[in-house]
Amino acid sequence: MKVSRRRFLGGAGAAVGTLAAGAVLAGCDDQSTADSAPKPTPAQPFYGTHQMGIIAPTAEYATAIALDVTASDRDGLVGVLTSISANIEALTQHDPPEPEELLAVPEDAGIVVGVPGKLTSGTLSAGASLFDDRFGLAKLKPAALVPMPDGLARDELDPARTHGDLLLVLQAPNRDTVTNAVRRILRDLTGAATARWMLDVFARPDTTEAPDVTSTRNLMGFKDGTANPDPTLDDLMNDVVWSAGAEDGEPEWCAGGTYLAARTLRMIVEDWDAQTLDHQEKVFGRTKVTGAPLDGKVESDVPVYPKDTAGQKIPLTAHIRLANPRDGEALLMLRRSMSYERGIDANGQLDQGLFFVSYQRTMQAFLEAQARLKGEPLEQFVITHGGGFYFSFPGPAKGEYLGAALIDAAG
Ligand code: HEM
Repeated sequence: MKVSRRRFLGGAGAAVGTLAAGAVLAGCDDQSTADSAPKPTPAQPFYGTHQMGIIAPTAEYATAIALDVTASDRDGLVGVLTSISANIEALTQHDPPEPEELLAVPEDAGIVVGVPGKLTSGTLSAGASLFDDRFGLAKLKPAALVPMPDGLARDELDPARTHGDLLLVLQAPNRDTVTNAVRRILRDLTGAATARWMLDVFARPDTTEAPDVTSTRNLMGFKDGTANPDPTLDDLMNDVVWSAGAEDGEPEWCAGGTYLAARTLRMIVEDWDAQTLDHQEKVFGRTKVTGAPLDGKVESDVPVYPKDTAGQKIPLTAHIRLANPRDGEALLMLRRSMSYERGIDANGQLDQGLFFVSYQRTMQAFLEAQARLKGEPLEQFVITHGGGFYFSFPGPAKGEYLGAALIDAAG
């Protein structure tokens, strides 16, 4: 295992302008991004060492859909994987044909006529249950892949919104395109796999170029993604995100894949909105408007905890301090979270929150961070209702399907 324990990178990014004290949040986003138009998420290839949709910035809209395979044998599973793969390849790499005179219902049911019809990405991952005795894959299970345990934080896991044999994440710049893709993929599975849970999510895309800054905000109104490791650094991504397969003590087929932790985290927004700005900022350890750490001035400033051992500037229980104590020990992860909104619950309270997604080379990176966060003040405002642990397949070789490396290894 060669994963190095290293400090989070940070502080090297371009300096960003400081906002005037007392600036009103609305219309006052960080100055580095104020003039930049949303940049389109770059086209991502389907074939390659790694799957699309993992290190790329998130698109505006996505759907996460967990599937249970109902086919009873390995051939049936291969049918599921090839069907999903063919659709992801078609939907991400090719524009839908312009409809002319229709003779039959078109492939896209007419939903994406007039909108950019291409998916930005489609990413497929396997849950622990795929490696039970149904398909003869037990010996090939990624070493640390288990069903997500209950009780990692303030959890009220709903089995109907948790786990699944497969997790598919489909992203696009508009809602219709995602909806069309979900329908087409489910239709073509012809019952060989059925939806177990599904979550529609969205994000304000990051318009910044530099690392250590972001324009994305979560539904608590804080910048989210600031301290992510820089996904443009290949060596860093090899260190933090991508499995090295046998070298990591994993089955060989895992090389190029990654562990995915997904948590549907409901925010108790009514309570959150009743808090003072001072309290909200202390919960995270960052300034709401600029995203700067409470001991710094601009978003890209790196918090210096050894100079604040009593937590007078950044409380010892602040989210960022627990998530990454920057002590040279904390393992890195790449977060790719998005927001969700599900209307109201039975009590008329808003049901919205964060679909937390992190990718990491080892589950240890996620589990250690989650353990440090247990009992943090943020927990008063967040309940976990679903999600799961998965392993994202390596990218398919030319002409292959997603998961082919696993199936081939099974012989
Ligand atoms: C609703 C739940 C959560 C919210 C609203 C939230 C929000 C935030 C915010 C606003 C930041 C600071 C900006 C940034 O660097 O992105 C942050 C940082 C971070 N969060 Fe979370 N987070 C949540 C859950 C989690 C969970 C479950 C984990 C992992 C187990 C996690 C891991 C991290 C890490 C590693 C950082 C970077 C800390 C640093 O390097 O300074 N977060 N989060």
